[in-house]
Amino acid sequence: MKTIGFAMCGSFCTFDKALAAAETLAKDYNLVPIMSETAYATDTRFGDAESFRTRLETVAGQAVIHTIKSAEPIGPSGMLDALVIAPATGNTLSKLARGITDTAVTMAAKAHLRRGKPVVVAVSTNDALSGSAESIARLLNRKHVYFVPLYQDDATNKPNSLAADLGRLPAALAAALAGQQLQPLFVCN
Ligand SMILES: Cc1cc2nc3c(=O)[nH]c(=O)nc-3n(C[C@H](O)[C@H](O)[C@H](O)COP(=O)(O)O)c2cc1C
Repeated sequence: MKTIGFAMCGSFCTFDKALAAAETLAKDYNLVPIMSETAYATDTRFGDAESFRTRLETVAGQAVIHTIKSAEPIGPSGMLDALVIAPATGNTLSKLARGITDTAVTMAAKAHLRRGKPVVVAVSTNDALSGSAESIARLLNRKHVYFVPLYQDDATNKPNSLAADLGRLPAALAAALAGQQLQPLFVCN
């Protein structure tokens, strides 16, 4: 069974769907749970940090990696076959696009990418077509980075927002493990 890092960033409104996607993946893969420091520690109106941490740990059956220090061995140990970042915030996308490594998730990505293995990003950000557009464009053009197909989640009220269709995450991951980007990249939901 392949081992997949499942890394969650602070798009809190997406946590329920992301955890459901993690449950689906856990049927076919060993999951290594990872959270950004923000995702790990922030209580919001969408739920308490502790309850989300516990849910992810229950799905994966092990403690969440949530510091740069604990994420660093992912590279040297070759721990993962692929790294999924779901949800991926505008913040983390921008850091990935520019080589900034100052969170557990960006450290996991950097460590994992040094082995040339796939990273699959599930974007969820209101500024995907504005402030984060350049970062997304850079990552679309980056070796070993693949996207979960995207849709405009509320074109009327949030015209710059894009969200990954997490129902397509298993197919996007399978494609990425075979070195392919799942198509179509943009879908209607
Ligand atoms: C309630 C709440 C909801 C948020 N939702 C999102 C979101 O959907 N997408 C996003 O890119 N950032 C969102 N943010 C902002 C991120 O949490 C913030 O940029 C944070 O620095 C992300 O850190 P990370 O990328 O290391 O997880 C939200 C913040 C809060 C408090």
